[in-house]
Amino acid sequence: MNNKKIIGLMACDPRGVIGNKGGLPWSYPEELEHFRKVTFGQVMIMGHKTFESIPSATLKDRFNIVFSRRSQKPSEPCENVIFVSSLNDFLALSPIPADKEIFMIGGAEIAKLFLTADLLSAFLLTKIHDVYEGDTIFPLSLLQDWSYEIIRQEKHFTIYKYVH
Ligand SMILES: NC(=O)c1ccc[n+]([C@@H]2O[C@H](COP(=O)([O-])OP(=O)(O)OC[C@H]3O[C@@H](n4cnc5c(N)ncnc54)[C@H](OP(=O)(O)O)[C@@H]3O)[C@@H](O)[C@H]2O)c1
Repeated sequence: MNNKKIIGLMACDPRGVIGNKGGLPWSYPEELEHFRKVTFGQVMIMGHKTFESIPSATLKDRFNIVFSRRSQKPSEPCENVIFVSSLNDFLALSPIPADKEIFMIGGAEIAKLFLTADLLSAFLLTKIHDVYEGDTIFPLSLLQDWSYEIIRQEKHFTIYKYVH
């Protein structure tokens, strides 16, 4: 598995809020379109809670690697889903085909896991301009030593590319 570069792909408000009550705190169709376009046909890595929040229609067109420690896995909504129970399990997976990109899409628990283990080569982070209430926070401090450029500026959000 460690033959590929993994890219973070998430969206947060100015304080790092990414989620509320199991879903996104906001609704910006253009931002979701960006997510769908970038990940279409690619590999997505996510935590179990994020997996539960994504419609099966979206999961269907991507290969999904889901982190969960539970021995009883939830029923899989489509065949292109696999569960891993630890980082070591993940690192032991077979190499991903060279023509696929791999995106770590969150949530906060899995983002912290991958950033702390230094497994990400780049991070596409959408910063939503408005402030939202939320119960799940992405610690922006984990990217403080990375350099960044703005790759897209919209009325309600700006997309940054971080590298290190
Ligand atoms: N704005 C964004 O870009 C964005 C992106 C993704 C998610 N979100 C939002 O964020 C929220 C979910 O994020 P979250 O941080 O609460 O949860 P999460 O990271 O999506 O999932 C957490 C789950 O992952 C599993 N897990 C965590 N660490 C693990 C490890 N080391 N090994 C194996 N399994 C592990 C556990 O599943 P088990 O309980 O099954 O063991 C844990 O309960 C939702 O509101 C979602 O909508 C927002």
